[in-house]
Amino acid sequence: MSNITFTMLKPDSVRNGNIGAILDKIIKSGFIIKAMKFTKMSNEKASKFYAIHSERPFFNDLVEYMTSGPIVAAILEKDNAVNEFRDLIGSTNPEEAEEGTIRKMFAKSISENAIHGSDSDENAKIECEFHFGADEIY
Ligand code: CMP
Repeated sequence: MSNITFTMLKPDSVRNGNIGAILDKIIKSGFIIKAMKFTKMSNEKASKFYAIHSERPFFNDLVEYMTSGPIVAAILEKDNAVNEFRDLIGSTNPEEAEEGTIRKMFAKSISENAIHGSDSDENAKIECEFHFGADEIY
């Protein structure tokens, strides 16, 4: 069990003015911010980040959406971070997300679902290192 996870507040969260409310919820849920940046992914970077989905029918739309505006990327720390954070954000499809979860509150659809959370400790490490250098983590 690792105590680190990776998140992105996706372009719809930035566009809709929700990043303050989402970060407030994350912090009040006991996550500590270890690294954070406001950035915009290039097509190349988003394609690489989502390479696992490259054969899926929604891949091109996913890359287009994730490069459509800036995001907030962050590394978060808490005991059992990956599982705790996935509970906090809720199901990928906001229609299936539980009341009070971030996706239930802020996501519009499965394709524009407000926020990313790593799905395993192994991927959390890969995703943190993909977005942050060692000198950007505190
Ligand atoms: P996330 O789990 O953060 O990372 C993969 C993303 O692909 C997911 O969020 C959704 O935004 C998107 N995605 C997953 N499944 C579908 C789907 N069936 N249709 C459209 N987009 C999807």
